[in-house]
Amino acid sequence: MRKNGNSHSGRVFSDRRWILPFFASLLVLITLLLSAVFGLFSSPNGGDPLPFDVIPFTRSEDSSGYFVESDLNRSFDTTGFSKMESPRLAYLISGTKGDSQRMMRVLQAVYHPRNQYILHLDLEAPPRERLDLTLSVKADQTFREVENVRVMAQSNLVTYKGPTMIACTLQAIAILLKESSEWDWFINLSASDYPLVTQDDLLHVFSNLSRNLNFIEHTQIAGWKLNQRGKSIIIDPGLYLSKKADIAWTTQRRSLPTSFKLFTGSAWVMLTRSFLEYCIWGWDNLPRTILMYYTNFISSPEGYFHTVVCNTEEFRNTAISHDLHYIAWDTPPKQHPLSLSMKDFDKMVKSGAPFARKFAKEDPVLDKIDKELLGRKNRFAPGAWCIGSSDGEADPCSLRGNDSVFRSGPGAERLQVLLQQLLSEDFRSKQCPSKR
Ligand SMILES: *[C@@H]1O[C@H](CO)[C@@H](O)[C@H](O)[C@H]1NC(C)=O
Ligand SMILES: *[C@@H]1O[C@H](CO)[C@@H](O)[C@H](O)[C@H]1NC(C)=O
Ligand SMILES: *[C@@H]1O[C@H](CO)[C@@H](O)[C@H](O)[C@H]1NC(C)=O
Ligand SMILES: *[C@@H]1O[C@H](CO)[C@@H](O)[C@H](O)[C@H]1NC(C)=O
Repeated sequence: MRKNGNSHSGRVFSDRRWILPFFASLLVLITLLLSAVFGLFSSPNGGDPLPFDVIPFTRSEDSSGYFVESDLNRSFDTTGFSKMESPRLAYLISGTKGDSQRMMRVLQAVYHPRNQYILHLDLEAPPRERLDLTLSVKADQTFREVENVRVMAQSNLVTYKGPTMIACTLQAIAILLKESSEWDWFINLSASDYPLVTQDDLLHVFSNLSRNLNFIEHTQIAGWKLNQRGKSIIIDPGLYLSKKADIAWTTQRRSLPTSFKLFTGSAWVMLTRSFLEYCIWGWDNLPRTILMYYTNFISSPEGYFHTVVCNTEEFRNTAISHDLHYIAWDTPPKQHPLSLSMKDFDKMVKSGAPFARKFAKEDPVLDKIDKELLGRKNRFAPGAWCIGSSDGEADPCSLRGNDSVFRSGPGAERLQVLLQQLLSEDFRSKQCPSKR
């Protein structure tokens, strides 16, 4: 490629055919310059500012108000307390081949009529399984009546650690934003996650919280990791191939970004509606620029939202560095977390976290969680909205009551303790730290 280009320009020089056009354009240039200079001084109303006078673009107070962005800016709710209504959550539950039963179980364990749910089975799952999942959602009387559970018909090829993963999450968020104007937080779960508190507990505790707090575990990438992660370039074939293939590493390296700082953290997040509107609608270019940057970055789900939130003045103070999950790692940590089982039960409970991962399919500890933490006997983990009879085998949730009344239990107390710690001055002083 490069060789061709060189020999081509070499030939042009040796021909000397460039001489005539070169002098012609030089002459035109000089004429233009002279006329501009003389035109300026001989202008009849020379005192006027030039029409192309530029207002210096800075993000300071004096220039805001001139530009459309400042109006858009004003439209977001920075206090987070405009609504005193009880909160609503929007869940994405995603899975792959063979996960549909587990996804259904997670869905039932986190179900509450106030919330919104979207299920995504990736392209590795056979169409039959996606159909079965859709049919079991359709067959549920409560889901049919409340209409708050959706299965994504468009199924995406998702590469582990590739940008197709973040693209899929963004699509689900876009659907949730369009379909429901009411939710306050978005939560990301997989088929191997499970809740440790009831939705009543979670909604009760979050009722009292500012609606602009983003739970996103993050640290700035620094040291050797910065060179290793920030300079490598990957390509995710899931973006353009129809069959799944592994991420490809290129031999080229790129320089580190200087217009923003890189952050990384947990791929499990609980994000506010206002932050996600900022990311999805894109009236500010930063979320889009960073998304494009992350196309070639390894593990974009562990960095995209983190880098956007910490590089945006309006949001950096809203980022609480915790992913609200109990996750156990090997020492030293391996690539995947440990599978949780009976022996981890006490530690999970003690953590106060509302969710845990990861669990093997049908692990007996899930039954223990159902029985002891969620009170789940039938379909759902019951809440104050379940007002039917619970005699014998009857499902109290078959009759729905007021969904803004919550019955909080010990789970709410555990979560409250965790949140108190997360919202303490000491903890919040570590928000979006910038190491230099
Ligand atoms: C948006 O608002 C914040 C503070 O509320 C301000 O610091 C920032 O400069 C504003 N951005 C624009 C583009 O006006
Ligand atoms: C969302 O959830 C999935 C689990 O299926 C996870 O792998 C992914 O990285 C998560 N995070 C984001 C930001 O997409
Ligand atoms: C809500 O906040 C108030 C005041 O900060 C506090 O007294 C109350 O205990 C909180 N309630 C819950 C459920 O956390
Ligand atoms: C539901 O409960 C809330 C809070 O207790 C109350 O404000 C509301 O009026 C109730 N709604 C109905 C329809 O009873």
